[in-house]
Amino acid sequence: MSRLVSPADVIASSADTVTAAIGGRKPRIAIVLGSGLGPLADRIESAVRVPYGDIPGFHVPTVQGHQGELVVGTLAGVHVIAQSGRFHMYEGHSAGDAVLPIRVFAALGVETLIVTNAAGGIRQSFRPGTLMLISDHLNLTGRNPLEGPVLEGETRFPDMSVPYDAGLRATARAVAAERGITLDEGTYAALLGPTYETPAEVRMLERLGADAVGMSTVPEVIVARARSMRCLGISTITNAAAGTSSALLSHADVMDVARDVGAQLADLVSGVISAMTPSS
Ligand code: HPA
Repeated sequence: MSRLVSPADVIASSADTVTAAIGGRKPRIAIVLGSGLGPLADRIESAVRVPYGDIPGFHVPTVQGHQGELVVGTLAGVHVIAQSGRFHMYEGHSAGDAVLPIRVFAALGVETLIVTNAAGGIRQSFRPGTLMLISDHLNLTGRNPLEGPVLEGETRFPDMSVPYDAGLRATARAVAAERGITLDEGTYAALLGPTYETPAEVRMLERLGADAVGMSTVPEVIVARARSMRCLGISTITNAAAGTSSALLSHADVMDVARDVGAQLADLVSGVISAMTPSS
């Protein structure tokens, strides 16, 4: 991206491109799909797919399991936009580039963000396949997407006392109980990656109060909150974090587990969307 083009211009031209591609659709909810969770996008009805290659400022994902397209249509009767493929900072993207899609969603009028991810389980009771509602997070990436000039629609020092909306969390708990889906709840720590953690790092994270660890989500939620979007975050615990079991970690295993629970996660997310009222 040329330095002569301002971030605001990139956001505006990306939003214009997406608007033109999706016709009159007005998504209310954006869903960010984590590793292996792409199948949720297949449940979107009357879908229009916009490949990242067509959107100014969007990068083609380099990580296996990340698609690289926006999918716009209806889920549980509600207009949604799904981001299938993230820009991770460990791929070399700046924090600002990593959150471009979120700023574009805000420009399109999206008011609610649902973020999903694959994460390592730190809490002892978490088994691979556990779904964890994110109640709070630790930004340990060493980066912040709001660094630099304040963009229009954002403030210099956004409040982060309620990063994950209490009403949406209550809805998620109720939907999970109703559908017989086990849903734990805890704090997600984001590290830069791309290495998985060492056992000593995992012990540190546990002492800091983290229940799960991953390499995404937090920059997205920071920008979403700066733009007053309500956020709901759900982690799929794909593995025991390093050193908490004898298993070594691999991306292939992470994706297998994420895929295995993908249908349950999709049920939960679509249940939440159908149960949401404008203020819940
Ligand atoms: N650590 C960091 N990120 C992850 C992990 C992990 O153990 N599992 C899936 N994403």
